[in-house]
Amino acid sequence: MKLPTQVKLVDVGPRDGLQNEKQPVSADIKIGLVHRLQDAGLMEIEVTSFVSPKWVPQMADNAEVMHGIVRKPGVLYSVLTPNMKGFEAAIAAPREEWPDEIVVFGAASEAFSQKNINCSIAESIERFAPVVAAAREKGIHVRGAMSCTVGCPYEGEIAPAKVGYLAQLMKGIGVQRVDVADTIGVGTPRKVQAAMQATLAHFDVDAISGHFHDTYGQALVNTLAALELGVWNFQSSSAGLGGCPYAKGATGNVATEDVVYMLHGMGIETGIDLDKLIDAGVYISEALGREPNSRASKAIRTKRAG
Ligand code: HMG
Ligand code: MG
Repeated sequence: MKLPTQVKLVDVGPRDGLQNEKQPVSADIKIGLVHRLQDAGLMEIEVTSFVSPKWVPQMADNAEVMHGIVRKPGVLYSVLTPNMKGFEAAIAAPREEWPDEIVVFGAASEAFSQKNINCSIAESIERFAPVVAAAREKGIHVRGAMSCTVGCPYEGEIAPAKVGYLAQLMKGIGVQRVDVADTIGVGTPRKVQAAMQATLAHFDVDAISGHFHDTYGQALVNTLAALELGVWNFQSSSAGLGGCPYAKGATGNVATEDVVYMLHGMGIETGIDLDKLIDAGVYISEALGREPNSRASKAIRTKRAG
């Protein structure tokens, strides 16, 4: 099959990348990361989440971060809002500080839904419905993240039918596009394609994105497998940051640098300046006191130094 000629990446580093970070990361550093990502050409950035600070302390500065970013025209800024409380907090600021898109997040696995958002799949949809309606009424886009679409840390392998069921529920409440997430990075290409196919029964290919954690080193090949189905939206984290606090042992998202290197090497456009992106990854990694978790970043920096 002919592969897409261009890909849009959402950098989820400031949110997924940092939510699980144990050491304090100041709002200024998070804002600095968002600025560097937009300067590198990212057109979509997942900035923060409006969740309980007791559950995810690292995101407690959500309003400060949204207030501090200097927006670049054309860039879409998204935030996670699991319920009306989160949505109301996200729009408590003046209009120009509202997110362009909110993300409701559910799971294809009942056990993960309970652990992550403290309710069943059916209850989560009941909670999301008014959030989706309120956002759309205000002209804010709505994305739905679907966790554990191939495997769950509590239930093991997840059948594609469960993914299709969740996608159908999301569609039913007015979610406009969905992320097919491999939360714990256990997926392999055919399994990821099966999860994508189940989602394609309910959403157009343009409304589906891949969100692959790289725990087992499969994220790039899974990206290619999704590209083969025509999927052209993906999420990744600069410097390979990340992990979900309720998915023990799962490592970060695939590094944006590695995805961009692969796509550019295949002649697929992203609009991203890889050198600037590498510098953004170095910036946040230095703030965290570690090396970027990206092979492409390491190789290119070694070459630069030589
Ligand atoms: P709950 O305890 O069931 O909520 O938590 P509740 O409505 O019963 O409220 C309990 C307390 O939380 C109350 O405070 C509420 O005010 C407060 P108290 O009276 O005890 O002081 N509360 C809130 N505070 C701030 N913002 C809110 C909010 N809602 C309630 N929005 C809840 C339910 C969803 C809030 C909780 O389970 C939670 O915050 N979970 C966090 C989950 C999370 O952020 N996970 C990581 C992101 S998802 C992810 O990483 C996966 C993804 O990357 C895709 C993938 O890889 O799979 C997207
Ligand atoms: Mg994730």
